[in-house]
Amino acid sequence: MRVIVLGGDGFCGWPSSLHLSAIGHEVTIVDNLVHRRIDVELGVQSLTPIAELPERLAAWHEKTGNTIGFEEIDVAVEYERLKSLIGVVRPDVIVHFAEQRAAPYSMKSSAHKRYTVDNNVNGTHNLLAAVTEAGVDAHVVHLGTMGVYGYETVPMDLPEGYLTVSYPDRNGDTHTRDILYPTQPGSVYHLTKSLDQLLFQFYAGNDGLRITDLHQGIVWGTQTAETALDPRLVNRFDYDGDYGTVLNRFLVEAAVGLPLTVHGSGGQTRAFININDTVRCIRLAIESGCEIDGCVRVMNQISETHRVSDLADIVAELTGAAVSRVENPRREADANDLSVRNDHLVGLGLDPIALRSDLLAAEIDLARAHSDRVDPARVPAESCWNRERVEAVESVIP
Ligand SMILES: NC(=O)c1ccc[n+]([C@@H]2O[C@H](COP(=O)([O-])OP(=O)(O)OC[C@H]3O[C@@H](n4cnc5c(N)ncnc54)[C@H](O)[C@@H]3O)[C@@H](O)[C@H]2O)c1
Repeated sequence: MRVIVLGGDGFCGWPSSLHLSAIGHEVTIVDNLVHRRIDVELGVQSLTPIAELPERLAAWHEKTGNTIGFEEIDVAVEYERLKSLIGVVRPDVIVHFAEQRAAPYSMKSSAHKRYTVDNNVNGTHNLLAAVTEAGVDAHVVHLGTMGVYGYETVPMDLPEGYLTVSYPDRNGDTHTRDILYPTQPGSVYHLTKSLDQLLFQFYAGNDGLRITDLHQGIVWGTQTAETALDPRLVNRFDYDGDYGTVLNRFLVEAAVGLPLTVHGSGGQTRAFININDTVRCIRLAIESGCEIDGCVRVMNQISETHRVSDLADIVAELTGAAVSRVENPRREADANDLSVRNDHLVGLGLDPIALRSDLLAAEIDLARAHSDRVDPARVPAESCWNRERVEAVESVIP
């Protein structure tokens, strides 16, 4: 298939692009390289030394003989270029990773909030409008987030995108229908993913676009079979307080001898998935595109759920690191239960990789091997969700 990967230079997009190329798809990456510029803005760098994109692509060609195309386009701004590329490539599938994806970054300031909304909502809408205007029957596969469901404890396993509701009409007769699960975004970033869902619903209904929205859990792990082929292909590993997800931060804290900083009680339960499963899920979603029947297909792209404090305990046990409880900069429930259905991807063939200690040990080894690249001052998450959180965090600074 001809596949355009928007955001193909990023943490999920790069290994996905390589895998799709390795199994014979014709891949074109579109990226405006903004994550690399945000690294500069934040004064951070990937723990792993990532090559520039042209060097990555040359290395891939050298190792495999496969060619991956690249177009530097800002999908949120350069609508005409995006539309013309879609018209020329006439892709069977467009995978959309190209969004600002860090919740803490989205909450840093009003400028960061506005950038995140402008970038993510315009990017998604430009894509849908361009596919429609170009008249191309491309299956759009988008990366959403588990965070659209919110993190309140509910007495059910979270369904995949839709909730079946019954309601009485004015005559007292009962009707049943599926509605989008009510969103409860916990940050501006999550809010943009909630807004994306409405854009998808509209374009699927109005223009018959075939769309899959993958509500993904927090991704952990770094390398895949393809990124491990050559040091120039290594995947990025964000450890900083804005882009580093919770497990990455614990691993790096342990590697450089810092205590593991758990926000609040650590009772927050979240969904996780290994990067190798992310890549497999993208493939499964792409290869099953013909089953979409008019509605947006939503699949929960997760392997398992864990409590943050349990993750800290696992990493502490493996490394001897201390665990430190810090004031939570986020406005979120201190503890929640979470159970999530992932029947759809499992039905398509996903065999989830569990968070095992040998896999974590490999990540810790990777973090130790690159510990000279870590700036310890950049590990704590300092972006506060609102004034009340600023005051709470400042009140405990020694
Ligand atoms: N990493 C996770 O744990 C995780 C979890 C759930 C969902 N997701 C979703 O997966 C997707 C990819 O996440 P990631 O971790 O790879 O993030 P990433 O920041 O590493 O990758 C995103 C890529 O998109 C590019 N990009 C952003 N805006 C763009 C624009 N306007 N035009 C062109 N390119 C643009 C960036 O330069 C970057 O290379 C995101 O949509 C994210 O919300 C990620």
